Amino acid sequence: MTKSLPASPLPLLRLAITGTDTGIGKTVVATALTARAVQLGQRIAAMKPVESGVDEGLAVYGAPRSDAERLQEAAGGTDDLSIVRPYAFREPLAPMVAAHRAGLTVSLDVLDAAFDALCDEREIILVEGAGGLLVPITRTLSFLDLFARWRCELIIVAGDRLGVLNHVLLTVHAAERGGLLVRAIILTTHTANDGAICDATNYDALRALLPHHAIFRFPWVDRTDSLSALAAAAQGSGLDTLLLRETPVPTAPGTLFFD
Ligand SMILES: Nc1ncnc2c1ncn2[C@@H]1O[C@H](COP(=O)(O)OP(=O)(O)OP(=O)(O)O)[C@@H](O)[C@H]1O
Ligand SMILES: [Mg+2]
Repeated sequence: MTKSLPASPLPLLRLAITGTDTGIGKTVVATALTARAVQLGQRIAAMKPVESGVDEGLAVYGAPRSDAERLQEAAGGTDDLSIVRPYAFREPLAPMVAAHRAGLTVSLDVLDAAFDALCDEREIILVEGAGGLLVPITRTLSFLDLFARWRCELIIVAGDRLGVLNHVLLTVHAAERGGLLVRAIILTTHTANDGAICDATNYDALRALLPHHAIFRFPWVDRTDSLSALAAAAQGSGLDTLLLRETPVPTAPGTLFFD
């Protein structure tokens, strides 16, 4: 990656959303944050640089609409889908693999140009990755590389279930080793796991393990098609602080049974 960065002025706040896995709640949190920013009157753009599992603009694998369409709508619906999502692949595979099987290569110039266009006259840009942080876009470019290139601060969405401690620690380790600032970790609720003992202990365990990071909990949202319900969930989870320029205050370890 020797090419220079896009030339346009930096927007105030550049956020990247990654997850501990695919299907973990990145788009739910990303659309919630975006909808909340719009509600607060902030000029925000949302982007999904590469999306897999998309056919004719519709997500055919699991969701009624593609991530890019949901992000576009949450940001106000004015940005052209071709820059919100420069690349869409039909097969639900990692972008490098999906692109290869489609006979295409993802161009960094195309991604930079779309990012640059979206940044224009915005206060916040929010970029959702695909899957987890090290997912390859090309042989030499992962989402971590792309987020670092765009100087994004990272938000890690983590499914509150058994295994999440390892997945969060691996992601934080990789991010910081790769030069990314981890702005927040957001534990998302999984209804299927309601009441599991790990759900009751993961948050406290993360606070004990990562005392210098800001850690949030995000609820299950019954109406993920409702922007006001998503925005309310973001507000209720204390995520407004992630939309401010200031670095969020680390979550206090508190009184823990791990002490
Ligand atoms: N907090 C939540 N409330 C309600 N539904 C949720 C929540 N988190 C995840 N889901 C549901 O789980 C599924 C996967 O969530 P989502 O699409 O946000 O995952 P993702 O991490 O963005 O996946 P991908 O890797 O495909 O981009 C969706 O059907 C979504 O509605
Ligand atoms: Mg998604």
